[in-house]
Amino acid sequence: MSRLLINRRKLLAGGPLIPLAASSLAQVKPPNVAIASSNGLRACARAMEILKAGGDTLDAAIAGVNINEEDPEDNSVGYGGLPNEDGIVELDASVMHGPTRRAGAVAALRGIKTPSKVARLVMEQTDHIMLVGEGALRFAKAHGFKEEELLTEKSRLAWLVWKSSLKDSRGRSNWGPGLDAPPAPQKIGELRRIFPGVDERTLAWAWEVATHPPLGTINCLTLNSKGEMSGVTTTSGLAWKIPGRVGDSPIIGAGLFVDQDVGAAGSTGRGEENIRVAGAHTVVENMRRGMHPREAVLDALKRVSRNFNDDLQRLSAISLNFYALRRDGAYAAASLWDRSSPQAKPAQFAACTDGAASRLEPMAWLYQRR
Ligand code: GLY
Repeated sequence: MSRLLINRRKLLAGGPLIPLAASSLAQVKPPNVAIASSNGLRACARAMEILKAGGDTLDAAIAGVNINEEDPEDNSVGYGGLPNEDGIVELDASVMHGPTRRAGAVAALRGIKTPSKVARLVMEQTDHIMLVGEGALRFAKAHGFKEEELLTEKSRLAWLVWKSSLKDSRGRSNWGPGLDAPPAPQKIGELRRIFPGVDERTLAWAWEVATHPPLGTINCLTLNSKGEMSGVTTTSGLAWKIPGRVGDSPIIGAGLFVDQDVGAAGSTGRGEENIRVAGAHTVVENMRRGMHPREAVLDALKRVSRNFNDDLQRLSAISLNFYALRRDGAYAAASLWDRSSPQAKPAQFAACTDGAASRLEPMAWLYQRR
């Protein structure tokens, strides 16, 4: 069971608690800071190298998330991301550049490993904000991007396991052994038979993602000592989605929002719920009204909860996280639930500040799983 508990215990975690009116934020000389979702430890470290060398804040954020986009082991982003229901990887990404106040995005982009770079090109080389699908791919290829197969052996296996997990009311699946096959043991045993040669760990992982479609994503927000800020959010979206489904990541104001007079915000998790509260924009506007990043992200989560009449039973199926970085260097992240399951570790996010190593820090949370 779950019960409603607003987390106050970790009030001081996630950066200094500096109560500042939005109008005085611009007076502060900030430190270099990069924060990201929990899969962004390397991304934050890479971004910090660029910030410290005096590089542009968007260059830093994009270089950071490129690590995940190109990593076949990150199954939530770019190459190796879990595919749509047809077994095709479709990627969404957005970027915002604080100094120029510009934005770019791509959605349902196939065949390009680094959608964040394409989103940046949309921002820089077009009069548009977002390109989708076939048009986005043609645009990327016109700018020299190589079209590649983004499905890895591992993500293909997970997709096949998902296909074979779909049963009719009699428990039959066209994607499993036929009626003439000997009776099959359940779950992992059945998979062992369908996929001989695949190790137990990979099969267990494939079963887990087949039955609990994950929504991983990376969001990375950056601030430099000049007070410039940028952000990027990039994802392969909901595993097994209907082809053409677009989540929150490429939606400016939902998956990402930056106004460097105030701060930046981003999100990971179930995009459908974030879009309904325009989450990243809400978080930045909360900070503009004087909320600390921690209050700002928790308030956005409360709006999501309100959309379900605070029904914890229904909310228990939702995973959603917000990240906030303020213009003065204060930052925080919060999750709807303290952990993804009662057995899981508490939710964390990645952060890297001047002079310190990239590290995982505890997230605030709205509700606690019991
Ligand atoms: N937040 C990622 C998605 O919903 O696609």
